[in-house]
Amino acid sequence: MNPIFPSILTTDYLGLKHKLLEFEEVGIDYIHLDVMDGHFVKNIAFGPMAVNNIHAYNNSFFQVDSHLMVDNPSRVIPWFVSAGSEWISFHIETGDNIKKNLIYLRDKGIKGGLAINPDTDIKEVFKYIEYCHYILIMSVFPGYGGQSFIEETFNRIESLKKEIIKQNKETLIQVDGGINLNNAKKVIESGADLLVMGTAFYGSNKKMDITREIAHLFKGRV
Ligand code: DX5
Ligand code: ZN
Repeated sequence: MNPIFPSILTTDYLGLKHKLLEFEEVGIDYIHLDVMDGHFVKNIAFGPMAVNNIHAYNNSFFQVDSHLMVDNPSRVIPWFVSAGSEWISFHIETGDNIKKNLIYLRDKGIKGGLAINPDTDIKEVFKYIEYCHYILIMSVFPGYGGQSFIEETFNRIESLKKEIIKQNKETLIQVDGGINLNNAKKVIESGADLLVMGTAFYGSNKKMDITREIAHLFKGRV
């Protein structure tokens, strides 16, 4: 499967169908859906209906990865489960029934993830590694696409990777925010398994090249 998760946050909604066709053409498997409630982050974006819409395209060709930037994930997660989102992550900073929600997702057969902001100690997620299919390390402060990658993230990826190996788990590391062809290599070398890419990925006319290039960077790893 392709480790690039395109974020559609900045997509023109009316052009989404065309965008999905482009993703399909370059071999994308997952779509990253940024869900924002206007409280946990300042911005507002997407509801569960978007999962249905993406699945309606080409007979559920894509798996949807819903990144919930919401204050009360316990209330919202079931909506995205019902909508059929295959991957769902929510933030540790919410402090809202973290373990219970992760176990709920696992029991439902959904790939559950825990997301962490740049200013939260990475060690906070260590005790949840065993319940997570993936951990989403934010490399920008959540809310908007097109921000610059925070350099300290490299150390955070490395330390999480070491801990996952130490615990002998297969939890994946997803990194989200400001990733482009200049920093992707170092992000992967630091231990990332999955890359969310918004602006840099589809702001370019050379999507095929970028997809190939990233796949090449992952060689031997995935
Ligand atoms: C930020 C979102 C990201 C964002 C990524 O809150 O979680 O998924 O859309 O976009 P770029 O790659 O432009 O930073
Ligand atoms: Zn995201």
